[in-house]
Amino acid sequence: MRSPQTSGAALLPGQRHLFDIPDDVAFLNCAYMSPLPKVSVAAGARGLARKAQPWIITPDDFFGASETVRTRFADLINAAPDDVAFAPAVSYGMAQATANVTLVRTQTIVTLAEEFPSNVYPWMDLAQRTGAQFIAVPRPGDGDWTAALLSAINTATGVVAVPHCHWTDGGFIDLEAVGNACRSVGAVLCVDGTQSVGALPFDVKRIDPDYLAVASYKWLLGPYSFGFLYVAPRRQGERPIEHNWIARRGSQDFAGLVNYQREFQDGARRFDVGERSNFALMPVADASLKLIADWTVPRILATLARRTEAIAARARAEFGLGSVPSDRRAGHYLGLRFRGGVPADLPAQLAAQHVHVSVRGAAMRVTPHLWTTDADVERLFAVLPGAVA
Ligand SMILES: Cc1ncc(COP(=O)(O)O)c(C=O)c1O
Repeated sequence: MRSPQTSGAALLPGQRHLFDIPDDVAFLNCAYMSPLPKVSVAAGARGLARKAQPWIITPDDFFGASETVRTRFADLINAAPDDVAFAPAVSYGMAQATANVTLVRTQTIVTLAEEFPSNVYPWMDLAQRTGAQFIAVPRPGDGDWTAALLSAINTATGVVAVPHCHWTDGGFIDLEAVGNACRSVGAVLCVDGTQSVGALPFDVKRIDPDYLAVASYKWLLGPYSFGFLYVAPRRQGERPIEHNWIARRGSQDFAGLVNYQREFQDGARRFDVGERSNFALMPVADASLKLIADWTVPRILATLARRTEAIAARARAEFGLGSVPSDRRAGHYLGLRFRGGVPADLPAQLAAQHVHVSVRGAAMRVTPHLWTTDADVERLFAVLPGAVA
C-alpha cells in the first residue's frame, strides 16, 4: 500500500496571517468546519453586495464564475470541467447517485462501520427500496480498512460507498485498490471526499469512481451549503433528480428560455443544483480553491502530516493516547483514543480554554491546517492534563 502519510513534497510555511484567528485561539478542528480565508470573506462580501444592485448582474454572470469554479475543482481531482456538477451537500450528491443506481435484491451495498450519515442513509433507503443487503464492514482491529473492505467485495456487490479516510480518526482507505476491486466485479464506486479532497491527493483517472461528492466547508476552505459532485463520463447520460432551466441546452439565451429544450448542457452539468450561480458563495469558493491550487495539495498534505505526526507522538508519550498507525492514517487527519473512552465534557473543557477539537465516535479529532502554529499545539498540551484529570 502506498503510504498516505507523506507526499514527499516540500513543506509550506505557516499561513496564519491569511486567516482571522486571534492569537489565543487554537483551532484544531478543520474536520468540523474550516475558517474562511480573509481573501474569501472579502470576495463573498463583494459577491453579496452585487445583489444590492441587481442591474449590474448580467446574464453572463450566471455562467462565467460557475465555469471558473467548476474548472478549479476539476483541476483538483484531475477531472475535466465537464465531469463536475454543483451539489450543495453530500446528501444531495448521493441522492443523484441513488436515483440512478439500479440494484436487485441479491446484491449488496458495502460501506464502513460508523461511516458519515450522508453516505449511509441514502444507501439504506436504496436497500429498503430494492431489497438489496446493506453491509457495514466492522472496524478492523489492525486499522487496515482497505483489506477489510476488499474482503467484503465480491460478485454480489452492487455498490461500494466509502470515504478516502474515516471521518472519526483518519483511517485511510486505498481507493485505487478498492476501485480495481469494484471494476473487477462490476460494482459502482461512490466516494464521499468531504474529509479528504483538498488535503489528500485524489485522482479520478487512477481511482475511477462513479460518483465523488465533496462538501466545500472543510478541507476546501469554502462556504457552507456549497459543494461538488464528480460524475464519471459513463454516467453522464443519467437522470438528474431535479429539472432546472439553466441545466438545459441554450439557457444562455434568456429571451429563448420558453423554447423548451429536451437536451441538457454538456457533461455533468445536468446534475447542477438549481440556482447554482450563487452570486454570494461562488466567489468565496473561487478564492478558497485558488489558494489551495497555489499551495498545492501534496505540499498541504506533507505539512499537515508532519504536524499530526508530532501531535500523535506527543499524545502517546505524555498521555498514553492511541491513534491509527501512521501508515494506515491519512496524513492530514488525526483521531486520539483514550483508554476507557473520551471524557464526555472534554471538548467543552478545552473550548473554555480556547482550544478547539471535536469528538466523533470514540475518538477526539485533532485536525490542524496551515493556520496552526507551534503555539497552538503547546496550548493543546498545556490544557489537556487539566481536562483529562
Ligand atoms: C465525511 C463527511 N461527509 C459529509 C459531511 C457533510 O454532509 P452534508 O453535506 O450532507 O451535510 C460531513 C460533515 O461533518 C462529513 O464529516
